[in-house]
Amino acid sequence: MKSISRRNFLKGAVTLGGMVSVFPEILPSSVFGANAPSNRVTLGHIGVGGQGGGVMNGMLHLEETQILAVCDCFKDRRESRAKTVNDHYASKREKGTYKSCEAYRDFREILARPDIDAVVVATPDHWHVPAAALAVRAGKDVYVEKPLGVSIAENKLMRDVVRQYGAIFQYGTQQRCFSQHCGFAAELVRNGYIGELRSIDVIAPNGATGGKQDPQPVPDGLDYEMWLGPAPVTPYTTDRVVGGGRWHIYDYALGFIAGWGAHPLDIAHWGYPHIPVEYEGTGRIPEDGLFDTVVDWDIKGRYSSGVTFTLKPGGDKTTFTGTEGWVAPSRGGITASSESLLKVKIKPDEIHLLQDNHHYLNFVKAVKTRQTPASDIDSAVQSDFISHLGDICIRTGRKIKWDTERETIVGDTEAVRMMNRARRESWGLI
Ligand SMILES: NC(=O)c1ccc[n+]([C@@H]2O[C@H](COP(=O)([O-])OP(=O)(O)OC[C@H]3O[C@@H](n4cnc5c(N)ncnc54)[C@H](O)[C@@H]3O)[C@@H](O)[C@H]2O)c1
Repeated sequence: MKSISRRNFLKGAVTLGGMVSVFPEILPSSVFGANAPSNRVTLGHIGVGGQGGGVMNGMLHLEETQILAVCDCFKDRRESRAKTVNDHYASKREKGTYKSCEAYRDFREILARPDIDAVVVATPDHWHVPAAALAVRAGKDVYVEKPLGVSIAENKLMRDVVRQYGAIFQYGTQQRCFSQHCGFAAELVRNGYIGELRSIDVIAPNGATGGKQDPQPVPDGLDYEMWLGPAPVTPYTTDRVVGGGRWHIYDYALGFIAGWGAHPLDIAHWGYPHIPVEYEGTGRIPEDGLFDTVVDWDIKGRYSSGVTFTLKPGGDKTTFTGTEGWVAPSRGGITASSESLLKVKIKPDEIHLLQDNHHYLNFVKAVKTRQTPASDIDSAVQSDFISHLGDICIRTGRKIKWDTERETIVGDTEAVRMMNRARRESWGLI
């Protein structure tokens, strides 16, 4: 079946409504081939700092895409990224086959453009769900950096919106395509090659402490109000916005329990698509300095099947242990209890999880075909729930019980309240 981009599909529908033939809209794509200008997935990039710049460069080198817009609160960042895009197309593409990439201060202007199919959200974490949910509501597909929301409620909201609008959602935990051995490890677990699963042990790099609190003038060219967005208003200081701040301040993030935890937890969920129903543990919330997300966490959990779970700091790895062996993938490699396990060839009639070896292209293809991409919304929501539940058990100092059916904490009113967070009214979506 011929694939058709959602933009063309929607355009066709609009045209039909106006009683004009739909065919002129579709024909050029099939005439010029899959990467014809009219068939390229058009992108807007929201947040083009370190990671956003990297994803943008990855998308830029795909024949299947055309970047039409970039947005950032820093004027110099958005302008230099737009220049990178325009210079690239000027040198690689024939004149007249691409449009200029524009730089925006306010991402809502990108969402209002009907010629943009999809957006990449690579802002700090506190903007992920508000920006991505608004994008989906504006008819866009979304590639959203990890971790997902800053609360359990935000995660649920994101999933509701994606389902309601039939949007394609790809989560930025790239290892589902870029680190193929992670998928292989998950296939070993799912197909019983380590016997009956007994435990999952996850490690992720520890968080940071410190950060200077003294207020400083907002730098020229930064729209700090937009940077803060749904987060509380606080005086500007460099360590909030550059350096580690955006990852380690609770107003904007959960710290590395989620920020880095997202990667190995995603693999845990891939190999065993459930989440623990009980959590207990300890951790430290630094009191000196600006950074106030949990560090030194030590979480123990249990799945409803009895499989045990731990989440600790130190490196990056997901170890699956079964009755007949173990396998431990990380983003960088894989180890196992025996060489023979690493040489297994998954049989055609067994469970196969790997879709693609390019995470960005996997998203672009999904936008065109409307098929579920490698890191879909359901797995993103579930794996990110684990970080939130671990964080809540540390903050309350109590055991947490999770009802997987109702998706709520049970028997602890304060903990239930912590499933949501107050957001600034102007950006509150929940
Ligand atoms: N997948 C990965 O391996 C990986 C690696 C690093 C970071 N990340 C994630 O990427 C995200 C960004 O991290 P980073 O290190 O690039 O941070 P960064 O601060 O370098 O970049 C974020 C950019 O978003 C911009 N921004 C903030 N609010 C915005 C808004 N409303 N509209 C437009 N732009 C806005 C900022 O000005 C900044 O330039 C984080 O969520 C982080 O967890 C993922």
